[in-house]
Amino acid sequence: MTVNYDQIAVRYDAHRPSGSDLCFDRLAEVLAGARRILEVGAGTGNTTRFVARSTDATLVAMEPSVGMAAQACAKGVGGEWVRGEAPQLPFRSGSFDVVYSTYVLQHVGDDPLALFEACARVLRPGGRTAHITVPGSYIAGHPLNHYFPSFAKIDLSRFLPVERLAVALETAGFRDVRWDLECEQPKALNRAYLARVESKFLSTFDIMSPAEYETGLARFREDVEAGGGTTQHVVTREAVLIQARCGSS
Ligand SMILES: C[S@@+](CC[C@H](N)C(=O)[O-])C[C@H]1O[C@@H](n2cnc3c(N)ncnc32)[C@H](O)[C@@H]1O
Repeated sequence: MTVNYDQIAVRYDAHRPSGSDLCFDRLAEVLAGARRILEVGAGTGNTTRFVARSTDATLVAMEPSVGMAAQACAKGVGGEWVRGEAPQLPFRSGSFDVVYSTYVLQHVGDDPLALFEACARVLRPGGRTAHITVPGSYIAGHPLNHYFPSFAKIDLSRFLPVERLAVALETAGFRDVRWDLECEQPKALNRAYLARVESKFLSTFDIMSPAEYETGLARFREDVEAGGGTTQHVVTREAVLIQARCGSS
């Protein structure tokens, strides 16, 4: 099942971090010195805004959902916005120094090779690609698995292991592939987190059955009330940035 981002754009924007997030400092390192940058799946512009503020480069933000892009527009996010859907990248060959994405690879199917090949095409020789995604360890150990039995199954099937992404990058002609993991401080699964689940802040909740979502939410609510506003579970957010250099330099 696919996620209808036009439908969830407003609530997505309300419950996602904006400005700076895990791996953003590493992304800034990749972008240093770039003159033309492409973001794939820019969404409501949370990363776009960070990048637009941290570089003087020309930034092109590609996004298929009109609703998501409208949120970015309402926030006054910078960049040249283009409607488009990966793996098609409607740009001239060799026209970018960096192509990046944040939390988009789970939407390009179980084979990211076509996207990475397209990235290689639009990058100049020696250009770089970088993608922030969610590692399997985080999904498998997520405390929401206590409430939603198919949580890990859904997300492990769409967020590919970083090792598979690395192989796909090399197959697409990239070299110097590396990845770095970052973690946040542990946070209680408490009333504030419950509010985020109530708003379906993860697309996973749109993919599981409505019955599973309602049952899990009720159990989570009960635990929060019984614990005086918190549960015994903690969540430690993790993200991974995988990056590589294009062909010959
Ligand atoms: C989880 S959101 C991430 C948005 C933004 N990058 C962020 O970090 O907040 C996934 C985004 O990818 C977009 N998307 C889905 N399929 C796509 C595709 N094939 N090509 C490009 N973007 C896609 C969605 O419309 C949505 O905006």
